Amino acid sequence: MIDSKNYAEARICLQKVPEGPAELEMQKFINKREEKIVTILKMYPEPRPALIPILFELQRDYGWIPPMMVKIVAERLRIEPSEAYGVATFYSLMKTKRAGKYVIMICGTLSCELKGSAEVIKAAETALDIKVGETTKDGKITLKRVECLGYCDKAPVVQIDNSSYCEKVTPEDIVKIIKRLRNEF
Ligand code: FES
Repeated sequence: MIDSKNYAEARICLQKVPEGPAELEMQKFINKREEKIVTILKMYPEPRPALIPILFELQRDYGWIPPMMVKIVAERLRIEPSEAYGVATFYSLMKTKRAGKYVIMICGTLSCELKGSAEVIKAAETALDIKVGETTKDGKITLKRVECLGYCDKAPVVQIDNSSYCEKVTPEDIVKIIKRLRNEF
């Protein structure tokens, strides 16, 4: 259990004067989750093991774990920010890169590749003005090349988020799909 002295210090650390707008914004976001953080801290005899569950909790609400979030949480738990960032990037379930509101996944495995998925990817990159693995500047769409989606007879296959699949997608189709997603914003 974290003792009250350490916890009082931790609160001071959390509420220290932010250095810039990005930190201020993140600080406010974390402060609003104070109750959840305290609940997690109380589950451990010392703050350090609470790092992973706290980051997961914050990721659930924020969508991903930016470096500033890691820095603020690390300072609060009295952990070196570089060490905390190493932990965050080690676990694949921790998203240390921003994902967009929509994630377009284009299959790049053999059947889809033979049916032209490389051209579909290229058309998507051009339409979104990003490369595979990146997110648009407005943070709305992430483009990924993924392994077999299990619909090889319908190649090339595109999946949007975790639900909808598009089959036999052409470069023209992907541009239309992207336009439709943008209109849904
Ligand atoms: S190879 Fe693309 S869905 Fe199987």
